[in-house]
Amino acid sequence: MTAAAPEISDEAAPLPEGQRVLIAAPFGHDAQTVAKLLQQAGHETAICTDLCELGARINAQTGAVLLTQEALVGNMAALNAALEQQPPWSDVPFVLLIAASGGRNSRAEAARLQFLELATNCLILERPIGKGSLTSAVASALRLRRKQFEMRDRLVELRESDRRFKAITNSVDQMIWTTLPDGLSDYYNDRWYEFTGLAPGATEGDAWSAVLHPDDRQRAWQRWRASLATGQPYEIEYRLRHHSGLYRWVLGRAQPQRDEDGRIVRWFGTCTEIQDLVEAREVLSRSREELEQLVAARTAALEAEMASRSEVEAALRQSQKMEAVGQLTGGIAHDFNNMLAGVLAGLDLIKLRIDSGRFDGIERFMEASIASAQRAAGLTARLLAFSRKQSLDARPLDINALVISLEDLFRRTLTESISLRVVPGQNLSPVVADSNQLESALLNLAINARDAMPHGGELTVETSMVELDEALIAAEPGMQAGRYVAIAVSDTGVGMSEDMLEKVFEPFYTTKPIGQGTGLGLSMIYGFVRQSGGEVRIRSQPGRGTTVTIYLPANDGTHQEQAPASGAVREGKGQSVLLIEDDPSVRMMVRELLNELQYEVHEAPNADVALPIIASNCAIDLMLSDVGLPGMNGRQLAEIARRHRPALPILFLTGYAESAAHRQDFLGNGMAMMTKPFSLEALAGKIDEMIASTTGEHSTPAI
Ligand SMILES: Nc1ncnc2c1ncn2[C@@H]1O[C@H](COP(=O)(O)OP(=O)(O)OP(=O)(O)O)[C@@H](O)[C@H]1O
Ligand SMILES: [Mg+2]
Repeated sequence: MTAAAPEISDEAAPLPEGQRVLIAAPFGHDAQTVAKLLQQAGHETAICTDLCELGARINAQTGAVLLTQEALVGNMAALNAALEQQPPWSDVPFVLLIAASGGRNSRAEAARLQFLELATNCLILERPIGKGSLTSAVASALRLRRKQFEMRDRLVELRESDRRFKAITNSVDQMIWTTLPDGLSDYYNDRWYEFTGLAPGATEGDAWSAVLHPDDRQRAWQRWRASLATGQPYEIEYRLRHHSGLYRWVLGRAQPQRDEDGRIVRWFGTCTEIQDLVEAREVLSRSREELEQLVAARTAALEAEMASRSEVEAALRQSQKMEAVGQLTGGIAHDFNNMLAGVLAGLDLIKLRIDSGRFDGIERFMEASIASAQRAAGLTARLLAFSRKQSLDARPLDINALVISLEDLFRRTLTESISLRVVPGQNLSPVVADSNQLESALLNLAINARDAMPHGGELTVETSMVELDEALIAAEPGMQAGRYVAIAVSDTGVGMSEDMLEKVFEPFYTTKPIGQGTGLGLSMIYGFVRQSGGEVRIRSQPGRGTTVTIYLPANDGTHQEQAPASGAVREGKGQSVLLIEDDPSVRMMVRELLNELQYEVHEAPNADVALPIIASNCAIDLMLSDVGLPGMNGRQLAEIARRHRPALPILFLTGYAESAAHRQDFLGNGMAMMTKPFSLEALAGKIDEMIASTTGEHSTPAI
């Protein structure tokens, strides 16, 4: 619709719109009478003499036209022209007074019909008519006319709003479009037509999909239909054909507009060109891919580098290990050769003397041999301590009591220029450890301290409780949180460099002259303490002295104290001992020792031979078994033996027994253990003690 202002001119312009009633009633005083009546009802009137004048006077001020049938006689051209010129919203209302049907003639009827073709909005009233009816008919015609003006005003407003909408949509960079609720487009702004290069209106309805990239068409329509069906906002990226012929990426979005009842009345959509964004995104993803490739390549290179580095490190570790093993083997071989030389030389001399029948002075050689052999035994004990495979006799210990009892020994070890301070800590918990080993560890530390203070100084042995919480562990890598009893042995001696500190726990590492140190002291301490669940820490600086601290886990629990073995040495009285030992020479020697001690001996090299003896009726007072036997081990054999002979005392011999490292866990009731090598006295004492602790009767098989 195009805008059309009320163009009809009027000489009496000041009158408001649509209020004047034009009257055409040429017969007698009809016109004056009606005019008077209407004026009395408050209406503005104007009398026209004929249809010509009426046609000329119809304009915007005209509210209604009242005319009589007599006025229809005449030329209707002017009236026709006036009515044709009305704007589309305008339809002037007519009130036509006609004679009752009896008074009508055919000429008048024809004129009426012709008039009614022109006046589409006409109310016909038959005369005679009452004043009230007439004024009310005119009033309703005027109301109708007012409605037309209101309609015109709405149309003007609408047109204004439409203009504003278009002005706004054309003032932005985006393409804007609207569709009807069914999704068919009914408007595109100028940006759309500029972009597509199409003629205005060319893409209305569903024709817009012609500019969609064929590959995006199905996806875009699918999404659009889904939004239309659900009312959900529409958002999609697709390619539109630009007027250049190339497709460009746009972001399409649409929102529904709803009426008061929530019904969708229209969709408002936009298309935003995002070609640059998409290109940037592609560049970004390409560079990300390239970056990822670069990272992957670099990672692979690093991994390869690390692999080769760890190979080099492994090779280095291997060579260091070999060096350490070489040092260890060399050290052992050297010390053992010395000791074996002592043993063999003594034995050779004894043999020579016996062969030549000279028995005098033979004891000297025997004692020298035994002394050398004992030194060798001491060496292996220290090696076992370092390897943490020694058999520990762990019992609850009062560390303060132990340290105080050692004070004398410490003093004797030190030179006169060294003062000793023993500082026992308060409220120490007991620890569970092998007291002999701990004593020898502390003595070793005291000797090391003495050697580090050739010109004198002070040795301090201090005990304390240490609580290591998570925060403190951070400063003590390798240590577990918990409560420890700490024994710190400090000196004011020469101290050690960083390099030395790294090596001191290695076996055979010594800076002492040959013959003065084996380099096993600290390594043995380390092995023993670790095996006891503790830690050793050394703090030292060259020239500033050294502190070695042994941490042993506090044991407030209930460790079962076992009665210490009695050292009484007594010979047997012909009781019988079952000896199981796989090494023939050891077996022979032990058998001889047992015979010497007046025991009767049944011997077996392994469990297979021993079991029939155990199961037989033969009397056995004690089973003496090696732990590490081929096949079934000594502990397993003991289990079976106990099934046959529940009260049989069992003494294990061990040179090295990983599983027997903690005796208390390994041994059952009526069982004991001795470590090889052992002295005749020790063996005799132990056997006697064990046999004596039983009823004294021979053990016989259970029935
Ligand atoms: N308190 C200390 N002050 C300075 N150096 C020490 C101290 N304790 C040990 N060392 C150094 O560490 C080395 C190794 O000590 P370790 O006790 O293991 O062996 P050793 O004393 O040389 O020989 P061993 O103890 O077997 O007789 C010593 O030779 C010495 O150089
Ligand atoms: Mg030492």
